[in-house]
Amino acid sequence: MPQRPILEYPDPRLRLPCEAVETFDDSLGQLVDDLFDTLYATTAIALSAPQIDDRRTVLVMDHSGNATAPQLYVNPHILKRRAWGLVEESCLSIPGIVGNVIRATEVRVRARDRDGSLFERDLSGMEAVCLQHEMDHLAGKLFIDRLWFLRRLGIKAMTALRARQGRQAA
Ligand code: NI
Repeated sequence: MPQRPILEYPDPRLRLPCEAVETFDDSLGQLVDDLFDTLYATTAIALSAPQIDDRRTVLVMDHSGNATAPQLYVNPHILKRRAWGLVEESCLSIPGIVGNVIRATEVRVRARDRDGSLFERDLSGMEAVCLQHEMDHLAGKLFIDRLWFLRRLGIKAMTALRARQGRQAA
């Protein structure tokens, strides 16, 4: 199957977490092909399975600009994050929105390939940032959730404080 429609915010399906891939079969291969076909029909450099309405933990990336450097990550897991910075992001599923997000700009990732073989890779710059953006999608998160990170941190701290006060009062 070729290019598939990309789900757009606020579609609730973008909020569903993915499940780990355990079967490396033709169906997975088809998903990977569809992801690349869909990605290459856009100007973006990465795409995750949930954006084309599939709940498997898969993302694809190609930073070359001419479809010559396809990268596939099945069940990706970040082993190391460093060199945090403020980076500008946008998303195919949230057209027209651009925002600054805090991300690690150097990561080491462990993932599986199309046939299930395990690999580790060091990514930096835009590739590291894109990997984290797509991994957010796999967890049902969107980059706009991170835009007001200071306010969100404030809310979390306040909630934790209230919970503690509640316990002390009880
Ligand atoms: Ni996105």
